[in-house]
Amino acid sequence: MSMNPTMTDESLFTRTADLVERALEGLLEDAQLPPNLLEATRHGVLGGGKRLRPALVILSCEACGGSAEDATHAAAALELVHCFSLVHDDLPALDNDLLRRGAPTLHVQSGEAMAILAGDLMLPLAFQALTGGGASKETASMLVGELAEGTKAMVIGQVFDTLGGMPVDLAPEDQLRLVHRNKTGALLRAACRMGAFCGNASGETLDALTAYGEAVGLMFQVVDDLLDVTQTAEHIGKATGKDEASGKLTYPGLLGVERSRQVVLDLQEQALTSLASIGDAADPLKDLCQYMAIRTK
Ligand code: IPE
Ligand code: IPE
Ligand code: MG
Ligand code: MG
Ligand code: MG
Repeated sequence: MSMNPTMTDESLFTRTADLVERALEGLLEDAQLPPNLLEATRHGVLGGGKRLRPALVILSCEACGGSAEDATHAAAALELVHCFSLVHDDLPALDNDLLRRGAPTLHVQSGEAMAILAGDLMLPLAFQALTGGGASKETASMLVGELAEGTKAMVIGQVFDTLGGMPVDLAPEDQLRLVHRNKTGALLRAACRMGAFCGNASGETLDALTAYGEAVGLMFQVVDDLLDVTQTAEHIGKATGKDEASGKLTYPGLLGVERSRQVVLDLQEQALTSLASIGDAADPLKDLCQYMAIRTK
């Protein structure tokens, strides 16, 4: 692995975050929104965030020999869906959270009706970013299909997380994996695959990036569950200690902190192994995986 100690913090994705930030600004500017909706959408989209999914899209494209510019619109589209998922995740009917990215959640800032509607808006904006992004018709259509699949899985996962409905014959750990793969893993998997499409990946490379995306996708939510029990709200910019109180099915809740950390290590290894066939071009994705495993926010 290209372990570079300076690359285990956020400097690893400053470049891709800057690119996507500018793309998002442009998309919101071009959307011709009434001022109240624009203000709310800007709060939900531009208010910070690690921009990890855009990094996955762009680095996956670059791992296939494409350029960051080839993937920036796809990265912005995916981040819009992610922001939509966060705005709705925080609503009183779901997680009922007051703090997000170190700021008031959108329903606290702009009211519940506006948070619902601004979240709704992010979805068509995402798909417009894909169709207006300069990709060929064929690539745009693959990107649209991929983002739709990832978004559908996210919604299914949120239903499992909030309302149940998983197959009853599954063992608790399998249920947990199913919730996390859907609510979070699917969009990270889609990020890698969309990057691969933007970079015209071969079948073998697409499979490698898909396997990587699946491993880091699940890992990401296991780490999120761990941060809920090990970090402070001040540090991570959102409430902590809430999952257990809300009766959520989580890794530390089911397996304990130590076994959950082992799951993270196993998934990290799985992710890195998946990239073997790509060679050095995948080094930045290895660094990003390392960051995602040890992140503290
Ligand atoms: C939070 O995602 C929601 C999960 C799926 C765990 P992030 O931790 O990537 O949130 P931001 O975008 O950095 O705020
Ligand atoms: C979020 O899971 C999954 C989404 C689809 C947004 P969480 O509810 O654990 O995310 P946080 O902890 O609020 O960011
Ligand atoms: Mg939630
Ligand atoms: Mg939540
Ligand atoms: Mg969480």
